[in-house]
Amino acid sequence: MKSISSLQNAQGNTQKKVCSKCGEEIALRRGEHNGITFAYFCRCDYEERMRAFTEREEAEKKQRVEELFKDARIGRRYHSCTLDSFKQELNPEAYRAVLRYVQDIERNVEKGIGLVLCGPVGTGKTHLAVAVLKEAIGAGYSGLFQTAPELMYRWNATYSSSGTTEEEFFRTLRDVRFLVIDDLGKGKWSERVAERLYAVINARYNELNPTVITTNLVGQDLRKYVGDAIADRLYDSCLFIEFKGKSFRVARLKGENGNEAGSAPTGKD
Ligand SMILES: Nc1ncnc2c1ncn2[C@@H]1O[C@H](COP(=O)(O)OP(=O)(O)OP(=O)(O)O)[C@@H](O)[C@H]1O
Ligand SMILES: [Mg+2]
Ligand SMILES: [Zn+2]
Repeated sequence: MKSISSLQNAQGNTQKKVCSKCGEEIALRRGEHNGITFAYFCRCDYEERMRAFTEREEAEKKQRVEELFKDARIGRRYHSCTLDSFKQELNPEAYRAVLRYVQDIERNVEKGIGLVLCGPVGTGKTHLAVAVLKEAIGAGYSGLFQTAPELMYRWNATYSSSGTTEEEFFRTLRDVRFLVIDDLGKGKWSERVAERLYAVINARYNELNPTVITTNLVGQDLRKYVGDAIADRLYDSCLFIEFKGKSFRVARLKGENGNEAGSAPTGKD
């Protein structure tokens, strides 16, 4: 970056000064980024300043996400959930579909492609949603895990607390690159909830930010629950993966699936 004095020298001198790095003439130019006007002197200086903007914005975004969700991340029970710790023989098709998604995680995130993991209780939907979220975070994307009821609870809290405003909360849900909404369909469905969920899903859809949803609702039941507008956006932007089989929790209690009761790495549910 050039100092002001070297700029003045450059301007006061009849001989043009040229940047030794990019070869462009050193002159005072004006740039604009997100409403901020700034001065730069040549192309490489411009690029350096833009890089600094991006770095600062990423750091601010990360801090915002961390501040808002310090106590609402992946639950401890699911900390050890990975693709490797998933017994694929219990749900081979779902496992393979999720694996394919993860193998191409960057392309999928860039295209805004998410997942809807649906099926009966205890079949590993949350386990694999967490595994995918960890992969996305590992690939450098910001990520958040929220259960649907918790999300609505936190949203309500923005009205009564003086901390986070509703708009800040919405922006976080919109802007986080990778969002998991766990257990959609279990909470009470009011008009207000419907409006908020639509706002989040639609904004993320528009921004090409992928959303992963886990739900017990399949097919028409899901469409009926979330309504046509949300369902259409999900069908357009997500891969639907159906989980089958019986509850791993029950099997674990009975000591099936090669586990002693309560001995699975993630503990008993
Ligand atoms: N195929 C599997 N291999 C290893 N562990 C599994 C498998 N399926 C489920 N589990 C474990 O069983 C427990 C229940 O799974 P999970 O919470 O992912 O089910 P779910 O489909 O999300 O159920 P629900 O619909 O009730 O939320 C978790 O501890 C999870 O790690
Ligand atoms: Mg679950
Ligand atoms: Zn230059």
